[in-house]
Amino acid sequence: MAVNKRIPARNRRRRVGLAWVLGLVACLLAAPMAMAAKYDVVAPGGSHDGDDVEQPIEFPHNVHVKDNDINCMYCHTYARRSTVAGIPPTSKCMGCHKMVATDKPRIKALTEYWEKKESPPWKKVSDLPDFVHFTHEKHLKTLLFDREFPVEDVKEVCALCHGDVENMTVAKKVKPLNMGWCVNCHIENKELGAPGDCWKCHK
Ligand code: HEC
Ligand code: HEC
Ligand code: HEC
Ligand code: HEC
Ligand code: HEC
Repeated sequence: MAVNKRIPARNRRRRVGLAWVLGLVACLLAAPMAMAAKYDVVAPGGSHDGDDVEQPIEFPHNVHVKDNDINCMYCHTYARRSTVAGIPPTSKCMGCHKMVATDKPRIKALTEYWEKKESPPWKKVSDLPDFVHFTHEKHLKTLLFDREFPVEDVKEVCALCHGDVENMTVAKKVKPLNMGWCVNCHIENKELGAPGDCWKCHK
């Protein structure tokens, strides 16, 4: 603000005008680029009607992702670089909820955990047996980054295995995540390097 004041008004208007034009050009360029991912991925079929998992605080994905446009990987930060996707620490929630919706009962409960320096004991929704090897990092590398799929649309990649989380009021398992389902997707996407060997998934 202080810096802006020193720019004469006429100049400032021209800068805004230029920013507008540049922004428009960027949009026009970005739109067709965003649509053309480098290669296609065959989506896995199959669905699963998982039970509702009772959580310590009902966390509404829809409010965060759909209404407020928060990226999946903003909260699940490990997905791109580790086997797990990770659940965000309470400090991340409080970055917003020290100010946002502080009068709501669920946010009061969240704040209590935070003040006690505890995390809400979130329960697992998707859970593979320990003898199965699965990694988010490799899948995201091939299904998102190497494919040059727009990162702001990553939810469509997560949706291959987790369904329409964007519209969920409570996270629910909606894909089978069993061996036949994993293997089928690997067969359909063999040319992307998806392995069929038993030992790749069972170490
Ligand atoms: C980037 C900001 C941001 C972050 C980070 C964030 N939230 Fe939110 N959250 C919001 C907004 C905005 C709303 C909608 C508030 C409203 O409707 O008034 C909301 C709503 C909620 C609600 C519903 C409140 C109600 O009863 O209406 C819950 C529960 C909640 N958040 C929990 C969490 C938890 C748990 C975390 C951390 C895992 C988190 N939030 C992280 C912005 C955020
Ligand atoms: C504001 C933070 C936040 C954002 C954004 C967010 N999540 Fe979550 N997610 C959480 C929290 C907290 C939990 C744990 C509570 C629960 O399972 O309901 C969770 C749980 C999950 C689970 C269930 C985990 C398990 O145990 O199996 C999946 C799957 C998931 N998120 C996927 C996504 C996807 C896909 C997106 C984007 C469409 C997304 N999340 C966006 C905070 C977030
Ligand atoms: C190729 C399928 C696949 C894709 C793509 C995928 N996941 Fe997962 N995800 C799984 C499986 C399988 C599990 C269960 C892992 C386990 O129990 O060992 C899981 C577990 C999770 C969990 C539970 C906690 C954890 O860290 O394990 C969260 C949260 C999650 N995924 C979020 C995401 C998000 C966000 C994306 C997109 C950025 C994503 N996943 C993309 C298959 C996938
Ligand atoms: C969307 C289709 C799809 C689904 C569903 C899927 N995978 Fe994959 N998987 C791939 C692709 C593509 C690769 C190749 C990635 C790479 O290594 O570059 C891969 C690679 C792997 C690898 C090799 C990683 C490495 O370290 O080389 C393992 C292990 C694996 N998947 C396990 C699983 C398991 C277990 C499941 C089910 C819970 C599963 N996958 C579900 C597409 C899928
Ligand atoms: C793409 C990954 C993947 C490959 C490849 C794979 N499996 Fe599995 N396997 C799984 C998953 C995931 C489970 C867990 C199923 C569940 O929880 O329902 C599993 C479970 C099993 C089980 C436990 C019994 C059961 O059905 O739950 C056995 C035994 C097994 N696999 C053997 C094999 C053999 C033998 C091969 C090679 C022919 C193989 N698997 C290849 C992913 C894979």
